[in-house]
Amino acid sequence: MSKKLWGGRFEKATDPLVEEFTRSIQYDYKLAEYDIVGSLAHIQILKKAGYLTATEKSKLEKGLKVIYSSVAKGTFKPDCSCEDIHTDIQNKLYAKVGDLVMKLHTARSRNDQVVFATKMYCKIELMRLQIALTELDMALCESAANNGDLIMPGFTHMQHAQPVRLMDYLLAYSEMLKRDCDRVWITTDNIELTMGAGALAGTPIESGKYNLDVSGYIPDMKGLTNAFKLRPAVNSIDSVSDRDFIIDILGAISIIGMHLSRLAEDLIIWSSKEFDFISIDDAFCTGSSLMPQKKNPDVLELVRGYTGRLYGNLVSVLTVMKGLPLTYNRDMQLDKEPLFNSFEIVSNELKVMAGLIKTLKFNKVKIEEHLEDEGLYATDLVYYLVDKGVAFKEAHTIIGKLVKYAIDNSVEIKSMTDNELKKFSDKLIRKEIIKLLNPRVSVESKKSIKRG
Ligand code: ARG
Repeated sequence: MSKKLWGGRFEKATDPLVEEFTRSIQYDYKLAEYDIVGSLAHIQILKKAGYLTATEKSKLEKGLKVIYSSVAKGTFKPDCSCEDIHTDIQNKLYAKVGDLVMKLHTARSRNDQVVFATKMYCKIELMRLQIALTELDMALCESAANNGDLIMPGFTHMQHAQPVRLMDYLLAYSEMLKRDCDRVWITTDNIELTMGAGALAGTPIESGKYNLDVSGYIPDMKGLTNAFKLRPAVNSIDSVSDRDFIIDILGAISIIGMHLSRLAEDLIIWSSKEFDFISIDDAFCTGSSLMPQKKNPDVLELVRGYTGRLYGNLVSVLTVMKGLPLTYNRDMQLDKEPLFNSFEIVSNELKVMAGLIKTLKFNKVKIEEHLEDEGLYATDLVYYLVDKGVAFKEAHTIIGKLVKYAIDNSVEIKSMTDNELKKFSDKLIRKEIIKLLNPRVSVESKKSIKRG
């Protein structure tokens, strides 16, 4: 039997260069498990449609299950001379059941097969991604709870702005991860497992026969009937042409990468000598071959750097798809490497970030030194004047002048006398404003935040 799934109309062998150029098995071997699940489902459909006898069905199932168990055990060896994983599995099945394998491809095309296997892969990987997101979120929430009493300077434009709770800073990232998780969930839920598109025009099998629950074929997914319901293709042309689900995933992963990159950037800045807000555990840092004193945040830099790859993968698939006429075109084979790569990057990032956050230490003394900057309380002094009946704009100008005076004359507002303060406004009373130059008072005066 030919090693290919096609060949009848060809008189010449394929040029080895073409074989090499068109091959995808070097990466789509990752779909092995899901290709087998697709075939097991297809066998059931063929039996229902009368294309297979009960004996033929069980023989094919038995053969496929042996191959499946080698994938599950990690002993599956892809034959890299095959065009793709779908061809390889068909050949492996031929070795077990002989010519009966010829019937397996009845009313089926790789175009449909590839979409099904890729969607199954995506559904499972997206579930794993949700778990990894939740684990990092838990690490952030735990760190927030452990540092609940710490107040730090908040920044806008990288300049001291107003004091904020460190807990709220960390929980801001937790909010982002929760939205990421929702996005991943929506993306998963949107993926419809379909079959029956054939190459593009549908098959002679009646649509109702394509209704199946395929959850039982994946050990950990048994019972997740809703997630793994197989349906007949509503539109066969769309079914084999659609790669939106991959673009949705690469988009969702890019947003996760962007959030992780911002977290990484904050931590890189905080770990610098100039800030010294945090100390990253030795296990999550690397050193310099030349400068013995160095402890570098390389992990965080790579998390920041990999964002470029994640965006690149998204743009790559968007670009592959943008000019393709319906239906299947071989260009679409190029969706898999970016997809696999983005899943791999983001899952590694989430794991390593969870470990880093769990072991992260905050330097209370250094953070508190930064809170001595009286500029952080300037807005509170504006509110103080507003409460005394001064219009906000006027209060803003008065306190602006007061802050500038303190800077220009290297004096602290808290050590200015009532008479000095009166030059700016007779409503500024020393013993009252001293109480406001306090991080806890500042933070507690903010009532607009409805804590969950
Ligand atoms: N490896 C291919 C892919 O991933 C298989 C589909 C080939 N289909 C075809 N009609 N030539 O897209």
